Amino acid sequence: MSKLSSETRRETMLGFQPPAIGDEEIAAVAETLRSGWLTTGPRAAELERRMAAYLEAEHVLALASGTAALHLALVALGVGPGDEVVTSPITWPATANVIVHTGATPIFVDVSDDDLNIDPALAEAAVTERTKVILPVDLAGQPADLDPLLELGIPMIEDAAHAAESRYRGRKVGSIADVTCFSLYATKNIAAGEGGLISTNREEIAQAVRDLRLMRRGDGSRYDIPVPGYKANLSDVLAAIALCQLDKVEQHAELRRRQFAAYDTAVAELDGLTPLTRDERDVHALHLYVVRIAADRAGATRDEYQRALAEENIATSIHFLPVHRLTYYRERFPDQPELPIAERAGDEILSLPLSPAHSDEDIADVISALRRVHDRFAG
Ligand SMILES: Cc1ncc(COP(=O)(O)O)c(C=O)c1O
Repeated sequence: MSKLSSETRRETMLGFQPPAIGDEEIAAVAETLRSGWLTTGPRAAELERRMAAYLEAEHVLALASGTAALHLALVALGVGPGDEVVTSPITWPATANVIVHTGATPIFVDVSDDDLNIDPALAEAAVTERTKVILPVDLAGQPADLDPLLELGIPMIEDAAHAAESRYRGRKVGSIADVTCFSLYATKNIAAGEGGLISTNREEIAQAVRDLRLMRRGDGSRYDIPVPGYKANLSDVLAAIALCQLDKVEQHAELRRRQFAAYDTAVAELDGLTPLTRDERDVHALHLYVVRIAADRAGATRDEYQRALAEENIATSIHFLPVHRLTYYRERFPDQPELPIAERAGDEILSLPLSPAHSDEDIADVISALRRVHDRFAG
């Protein structure tokens, strides 16, 4: 127990979200390399089959990244110049950048104060005759409030990069929106290093994405080009890693649940620190543990907490800085309305280390460092 209740600074930096890679992944990569399939092949196809079953969706397509998944989803739905896409400002910039790449305009609407997902009433108010798609984000693994968004009757692309394990009101994320996009990036719950997935129940969208992810339709030297495709397919080497991670998804979820429970207990005792709300009607993917730091009660700002934790050898991160405040978006869309909830949250949120690669002792180190820092600032 002495290690679990350590009262001193860690000797080495604790990584924020290191991947949990074991002998299985290493063996699967070696086997794939020996098989000769470096590009898209049988393992990518197997990943698509198994993910379709896991996501309870008709079609899953393996892609090069979550960003490519979002981009091809927009293209498949015909989004282009003159169109508007309603989305959340609290997301990784990829969500907005791909809207810009299609020539459409991202319309950022403010988020709900409790979970920082898009506010459905504000999304409805932002809809115009130009709105082609609504693009909610399932921040940290909490599904956005999808039902009122679906009632708008506008095609939906769901950014579920954080939400591979999530359910919304009993339904599996991946089976609900017109298109759902996942990421297999190194930090994600199913991590291949890089990679992405699209799930859809609409055959014509699946076919469009099949045509868009490669340069050709057909096999061998007799091919045709129905549309100018992208190069957005997934390598079998990465698919092999993703398959191992899928095997471990429940085992890893159990470790995440323990880490969340430990943080919940600790944070409840720290005045001014509040975790994002998790809706009990849903299954949360527990991808990120985000706390909000209210400087007036916590005795210091989020930035001061982040610096003090770094001095304690605890790496943290921010998910996310509001996209509409970043240079490109400020300059390109100067008439953007203020989004006060997102803007305040952007200054208050801090993500704590979370990974199935972390031990109970690692998480105890985070908690004791957080207590020391809180004592110093608020005590
Ligand atoms: C919310 C969100 N959307 C999209 C992406 C893009 O995914 P990728 O990095 O696989 O391109 C990420 C993260 O990486 C993300 O966190």
